[in-house]
Amino acid sequence: MTREPLILGIETSCDETGVGIVRGTTLLANAIASSMDEQARYGGIVPEIAARAHLEALTPTLDAALAEAGVALSDVDAVAVTSGPGLAGALMVGVGAAKALAIALGRPLYAVNHLVGHVGVDLLRPADAGGGPLELPTVALLVSGGHTSLLLVRDLLDDVELLGETVDDAAGEAFDKVARLLGLPYPGGPQIDRAAAGGDPAAIAFPRGLTAAKDQAAHRFDFSFSGLKTAVARYVEQCQARGEPVPVADVAASFREAVVDVLTAKALAACRELGVPRLLLGGGVIANARLREVATERAAASGVALRIPPLALCTDNGAMIAAVGAQLVMAGRAPSGWDVGADSTLPATVVQA
Ligand code: KG4
Ligand code: ZN
Repeated sequence: MTREPLILGIETSCDETGVGIVRGTTLLANAIASSMDEQARYGGIVPEIAARAHLEALTPTLDAALAEAGVALSDVDAVAVTSGPGLAGALMVGVGAAKALAIALGRPLYAVNHLVGHVGVDLLRPADAGGGPLELPTVALLVSGGHTSLLLVRDLLDDVELLGETVDDAAGEAFDKVARLLGLPYPGGPQIDRAAAGGDPAAIAFPRGLTAAKDQAAHRFDFSFSGLKTAVARYVEQCQARGEPVPVADVAASFREAVVDVLTAKALAACRELGVPRLLLGGGVIANARLREVATERAAASGVALRIPPLALCTDNGAMIAAVGAQLVMAGRAPSGWDVGADSTLPATVVQA
C-alpha cells in the first residue's frame, strides 16, 4: 500500500491565518494566527488590515505548523490553498504564498473551496471521537462572520449544491452588529452569549427573516438577518427615547433565539424535504451553545444525525483545506493550474479551482 500523502493547507480567506498539515485523513498540525485583536478597534473586519496581517503572520504560522507536525517542508507532497470565497486581498496573500511554496518545492498546487473545507474537516476527526468516514449525502449549515450557507453535499469532490445562503448579513456579522448596538465589544458572538445568560428568550418577538409564506418559493433555504438587526436597533432607540434602560439581557437572549430558530428550522427543513437524514455544522458561530442545543433537540426530533466537528476545526483553519487537498490527491485529481487566482465569489459548487 502506498503511503498516504502529506498535505500542507493554507487558509487566509478572512481574518485567520491558518496553516494545517494532514497525512491522508490524519491531522498533524493546525496552526492559527488571528488579526481579531487588530480588528476589534473597528468593530468588524477591515479587509486591508486582514490582508496585511496575513502577510506578516504567514511565515511564522507555517513554521509553527511544521514544528507541531514534526515534518520538514521538503516532506510535503502537495500544497492546498483556499482560493475562495472570501476577502479578495486576504485570499491573494494565501494563494501567492501557496504558489511560491509549491513552485519552490516542485510540488503540485490544489486550489480549494473554503466552504467545502468546512465540510471536509470532519474527515479529520478520529472515529473514537465521533468522527470517521463522512456519511453522504449530508446537509451542511455553515455559519460564520463571513458566510451563512446551507449546502447539500452528495459527494465531497464532485457534487456540492448550494441550497441557500444569506441575502444580506452573515449570522456572525449580525451577532457582531447587534453587540455593537448594545455597547458590547467585538467579536459580538461570545458577548451576546454571555449577556443572554440571564435574559428571557421570549421577552421580545424579533422577526425571523425569510420565513413568511410569501418567501417560501424564492427563498426557501435563504437567510436574512438585516431586518432582525434593524428591529433590535429600533427597540433600543425606543427604550432610549422613553428614557428607560435597555434590557440588555432580554434583548440579547431574544435576538439570539431569533437567529438560532431560523438557522436550525431551515437546516432541518432541508433535511426533511430532501430526505437527507444527516446535518453537519461548521463555522465560528457554532461556538454558540444555544445554537448547538437547539440543533441537537430539533435534529433528534426529526431523526436526523447531527455532526459537529470540534470547535477548533469549526472556525477557519488550514487543516480543513489540507483535508480537502488530501482527498483530491488521493482521488488522483490533476493539480490546479499555475494561473489559478483568488476568487472572492467562488461558487460552492466549485470544489477545486
Ligand atoms: O469562523 P469564524 O472564526 O471566522 C470568521 O468569520 O472570521 O467566525 C467568527 C464569527 C464572528 O462573527 C463571531 O461573532 C461569531 O463567529 N461567534 C459567535 C460565537 N463565537 C463566535 N457567534 C455566536 N455565538 C458565539 N458564541
Ligand atoms: Zn469559514
